[in-house]
Amino acid sequence: MSLSKKNPTNQKSWSSLEKLYNQENNLHINDYFKSEKNRLEKFTASFDDLYVDFSKNRISKEAFDLLIELCKETDLKENIDKYFNGSTINETENRSVLHTALRSKNNDSTEISEEVKNTLSKIRTISDEINNGVRVGHSGEKIENVVNIGIGGSHLGPEMVTEALSFYSQGIKPYFISNIDPDYTENLLKSLNPDTTIFIIVSKTFTTIETLENARKVRKWFVKNVNEESIKNHFIAVSNNTEDPKEFGIESKNILSIPEWVGGRFSLWGSVGLIISICIGSKNFDDFLSGAREMDLHFKETPFEKNIPVVLALVSIWYNNFYKCETEAILAYNQFLGKLPDYLQQASMESNGKSIDREGNKVDYQTGTIIWGSTGTNAQHAFFQLMHQGTKLIPADFIAFKEPLFDDIEQHKILTANFLAQTNALLAGNIKSGNEIQKNIDGNKPSNTILINKLTPNNLGSLIAMYESKIFVVGSILNIYSFDQWGVELGKSIAKQILNNGKSKLDESSSKTYDRLQ
Ligand code: F6P
Repeated sequence: MSLSKKNPTNQKSWSSLEKLYNQENNLHINDYFKSEKNRLEKFTASFDDLYVDFSKNRISKEAFDLLIELCKETDLKENIDKYFNGSTINETENRSVLHTALRSKNNDSTEISEEVKNTLSKIRTISDEINNGVRVGHSGEKIENVVNIGIGGSHLGPEMVTEALSFYSQGIKPYFISNIDPDYTENLLKSLNPDTTIFIIVSKTFTTIETLENARKVRKWFVKNVNEESIKNHFIAVSNNTEDPKEFGIESKNILSIPEWVGGRFSLWGSVGLIISICIGSKNFDDFLSGAREMDLHFKETPFEKNIPVVLALVSIWYNNFYKCETEAILAYNQFLGKLPDYLQQASMESNGKSIDREGNKVDYQTGTIIWGSTGTNAQHAFFQLMHQGTKLIPADFIAFKEPLFDDIEQHKILTANFLAQTNALLAGNIKSGNEIQKNIDGNKPSNTILINKLTPNNLGSLIAMYESKIFVVGSILNIYSFDQWGVELGKSIAKQILNNGKSKLDESSSKTYDRLQ
């Protein structure tokens, strides 16, 4: 069963939203607070350790009700069921989308359930053995470093999470080789001791040129510094292609599978997350999966009005399709979450950067937004000026944690005071006139507040799953296919052509640049 195919702009709620937008777009968020009784009650939602306040948005209660209506008119409930039950919702690649099964306890299909259990048990065994010093290097020394060789979904999630949860580190140091830049790889290798380093080659296809070239380079370096025989102790492969890694010299027991039904950008919950489990330990990895599973249940079962991924998706659609905002900023007041915007860029932009709808028509409305961001307070001293006084309207998610990880409560208070100050300042502004006009700040700038008790593996799992489901809801309502990436595939195939045939098929200007590169 496929997702329903309903053009959102043909729905009654959409026309009503357009009318409402024309009537209300000059209003100030403060007007809504004044005129709407219990606004906060309606515009907040909580789940376990997460509290989401989306009241500081240019959305009236009436607009919100219409957005909820839009969910119903576009069959969101039915589509969510198909997302979880393994329907072939990635129609253009003829696949189901079941990364949620990687963290689920009761999978409907026993086959899938077995595969998930086996992979999880392999992840646990490998990470426990490395951390307990049972799995050692060829010379008997304890493993100290683990290097993930992979790109895109085979890199961004694992890197973001190992950094975000580095407080929970069990001692093994993570490194990442993703880009095909030889200088970076060689520079990293210079600093590594091959006797105490494990390499994980992560590629769903095992054909991605960046990953394979880097893996070959690392293999060569390893053989030169150690020997060919020891590859079996130091190399692990994570792939859907279980044959090619064997040719590379990797033993079957060190090959972990990525099922066909897991998309690269949503794959960190399974074997792609091996480096995460090694770094934070298998117990913490379990908690990370549990957090995601709990968020999935919330998403599946909560009425739309209080369903966190749904309301965040609706806020996004409102600004993207009615206010015509082009971007969304992700601003975590936590330095460990520095890589969250990069991760969400791929998850969201590779998913919803589409312009053909599910019926094969070119869309005449906006789809995926540009995701960007940084950490607070650093971002305050970089680009917040434009958010406060510039001409662009930038919807933003402000993420903060109530408790610090260590015990410096006082400094943490300064961090959270800044977080609160910014959402407040964006909303309130500071009205000036006359010779102080340059200091005028209109306010009325939107933000979502996402407040989480503490940065734990469990809460991070919930946060990531929340964004994954938000991405799904946006794609579902906007009637696009969120789980393919044909645009990226085009670039890959042209690069291959250039490497095989030179400039013969290039356009005039690219061909000129080609000459200069020679
Ligand atoms: O960037 C395109 C893409 O296909 C992503 O979807 C994927 O995560 C990445 O390339 C890496 O692919 P693979 O895991 O097959 O090497």
